[in-house]
Amino acid sequence: MSSKDPEYSTSNPNTRILPPSYYDRYLSDKARRCPPSPFAKLNGPSRIPGMLSLFAGRPSSETFPYRALTLTISHPDIPNRDKSSRVELDGDLLGEALQYSDTGGIRRFVDWLYGLQERYHKRRHHDEGWSSSVGCGSQDLLFKLFMCLLDEGDSILVESPVYAGVIPIFHLLKCHATEVATDPDGIVADDLERVLRNWPKDRPKPKLLYTVPYGCNPTGASTTFERRVKVLNLAREFGFLIFEDDPYFYLYYGDPPRSPSYFQLEKEIPGTIGHVMRFDSFSKILSSGMRVGFVSGPTAIITAMNRLTASSMVHAPGLAQAVTYSLLNHWGYEGFQQHLDYLSSVYRRKRDLFMAAMQKHLTGLAEWSIPEAGLFVWFKVFLPPVPESKEGDSEDLIVRRALKEKVLALPGTSFFTDGRTSAYVRASFTMIPEEYFDEAMRRLAKVVEEAREEAGLQTRL
Ligand SMILES: Cc1ncc(COP(=O)(O)O)c(C=O)c1O
Repeated sequence: MSSKDPEYSTSNPNTRILPPSYYDRYLSDKARRCPPSPFAKLNGPSRIPGMLSLFAGRPSSETFPYRALTLTISHPDIPNRDKSSRVELDGDLLGEALQYSDTGGIRRFVDWLYGLQERYHKRRHHDEGWSSSVGCGSQDLLFKLFMCLLDEGDSILVESPVYAGVIPIFHLLKCHATEVATDPDGIVADDLERVLRNWPKDRPKPKLLYTVPYGCNPTGASTTFERRVKVLNLAREFGFLIFEDDPYFYLYYGDPPRSPSYFQLEKEIPGTIGHVMRFDSFSKILSSGMRVGFVSGPTAIITAMNRLTASSMVHAPGLAQAVTYSLLNHWGYEGFQQHLDYLSSVYRRKRDLFMAAMQKHLTGLAEWSIPEAGLFVWFKVFLPPVPESKEGDSEDLIVRRALKEKVLALPGTSFFTDGRTSAYVRASFTMIPEEYFDEAMRRLAKVVEEAREEAGLQTRL
């Protein structure tokens, strides 16, 4: 399509899909300069029946020494969890997994993922201008998409505090990250509006907002429905993309109803479709070492990202994709949901036990809110002031005192783009067996009390 392409409509008369040319303005110089792989345009024709394809430098598959692969997997539902079944990777799939394959992912796996997006986000792939691409976890996909969109000096918006894993990327790309406030209800949409309406005239407009809307890492917060709607409408008005990094979407244990994703909302709320890049990961729900995640968003941007992948790792490892696909295909979408129900019951129990231990030991020493998704509790410790901050420094607490007492958590400073002093701490309640929750909180309480007493403060508020 050309830059004059009209926005085209969906079956919903109130929504319009942004055309591919809309995304020209977002691509970084790096993405523009990266030409398509010479293989990309011949991959399709090479599959035409009868084609004698000599173009690709593929080794002869029959020489590969792997004959079969059998998986032993759990039943997905809670009553049968301890039973297992054996699934053999079918011959074609194993052959595909062992050979070079498509940059965006093994075809049947990607098709399964399209079915997943339709089921959980009510998005149809074939007529809505978006595609998915598989990567080595969300981290890999985030890295490549930031590369595709950001040049030195570009502006972005990030929720604050922000997932520590993206901060080095912002430094690497020398982009300007403007913070947007968060609270226990997620990103503060009014603060986002304030930032946008007061945007300095001499600074490039922000290209994207990075946010973790469910069980945020580090805050544990899940963004409310009303705020999501407002953020989405601001994205449409101010023309930025929402990077919806959602690895905890499937790790929800709060009460229903839950908010739809941004990816779903942009189809349901009248206006344009095409401002959301959604990142999904199997790391928290199937296996983190498998390194499988996928991104879904405007095809023009996914295509640009695939060009970077084609010239780096070519595609995510076929075996990891095939093993993930075989499990999911064996369970089916129903079985996948049963597995999520199981996860939800496990994590809800852990969350409740951890909260009870916090309540018992940290009351009067810290404040926190209760997460409804994900792995984290973010709490503010009542510490004595330090020269850099009147709220105190949790890094000193953790690195100097807690370490000695043999209890660890992550100081809040790790989650701010400027590394500023913070009184907050992130604790993961999935790291240690449940029977140690009480002892971990007792040790933490002891060091906070010591810090307060040494500063001449009363032991507890
Ligand atoms: C918010 C967030 N994004 C991305 C990732 C990376 O996930 P993956 O294992 O899929 O690369 C994590 C991992 O902790 C995370 O918390």
